[in-house]
Amino acid sequence: MDIFVDRLTKRYGAQRAVDDISFNVKAGEVLGFLGPNGAGKTTTMKIITSFMKPTAGDVKVGNFSVLQQPDKIRKMIGYLPEHNALYEDMPVIDYMKFVAEMQGIIPGKIKDRIYEMVITCGLEGEKHKKIGELSKGYKQRVGLAQALIHNPEVLILDEPTAGLDPNQIVEIRELIKKIGREKTVILSSHILAEVEATCARIIIINKGKLVADGTPDELRKHAQGREMLRVTIEDGDKNDIIQSLQHLDTIDMVDWSSSKADLIEIQSRPDMSSRRSVFVLCKEKGWVLTEMTPVETKLEDIFHELTMN
Ligand SMILES: Nc1ncnc2c1ncn2[C@@H]1O[C@H](COP(=O)(O)OP(=O)(O)OP(=O)(O)O)[C@@H](O)[C@H]1O
Ligand SMILES: [Mg+2]
Repeated sequence: MDIFVDRLTKRYGAQRAVDDISFNVKAGEVLGFLGPNGAGKTTTMKIITSFMKPTAGDVKVGNFSVLQQPDKIRKMIGYLPEHNALYEDMPVIDYMKFVAEMQGIIPGKIKDRIYEMVITCGLEGEKHKKIGELSKGYKQRVGLAQALIHNPEVLILDEPTAGLDPNQIVEIRELIKKIGREKTVILSSHILAEVEATCARIIIINKGKLVADGTPDELRKHAQGREMLRVTIEDGDKNDIIQSLQHLDTIDMVDWSSSKADLIEIQSRPDMSSRRSVFVLCKEKGWVLTEMTPVETKLEDIFHELTMN
């Protein structure tokens, strides 16, 4: 089931928490919704799940609009809210039964469905405990089970691994990947590695505005406007090496690396490569080029650059 976010705006008083954003999510896609604290992720998700009305714009889930058919949308969507309010005094099983009834699952099917969720979400050992007695990771699993119980086609997960330990993060990620094979998923995070590990496509928002949309590779390429090389050159005078490099017309900037002695960092001019000219220079001068490594732009740098202002 596709999701269409169309010129969505949400104002809180004078603040535009979400400011005229549009994007589509295709059926079966797992979309990472990335942005720093306060970017507007939770607000957007609350509107998509139709728990909150937009100030302007619309969201369609399949053929239904959050403005016109919010009840229909709530039934089709599984939602793991940011602050997952679970009933602490209820045993896991009872809580799942409560949610299943609320979601309108036929009474005859509730028991089977709970059993399936217990298996899918790895809750066998904990199912008789009260929710308040569970560790954070297991509470999060109950939150996921709750979001999945009516077998929705669309899943909206607001920071599903926030506050979990590294092992639990890996397990929840695997679980989301497994679930994501059959459903349309939007998953928010402010951690880049998180969305890179689970999502084929990433949207980045900052201060309510969309600032990037693409696969991790596309985002990387987009930022990689300029070539960066690390080179090590031996058997030459150090000053001569730096000055000669600076005179090459493919090169914009040359500097010693701060990370390792004798390592030089080269930034090429836009749309130029310095690989050949550096090699030819070394040959002419009789220097020995012992290392030439392209520096990959890290997705972290891109995220930083896009969300700094
Ligand atoms: N109920 C509200 N009333 C007033 N302002 C709000 C309300 N909810 C959110 N905001 C503001 O809207 C902006 C976006 O908040 P939102 O919770 O959507 O961000 P977020 O991207 O989910 O951030 P985080 O990563 O911290 O969860 C923030 O500046 C926040 O203070
Ligand atoms: Mg949030």
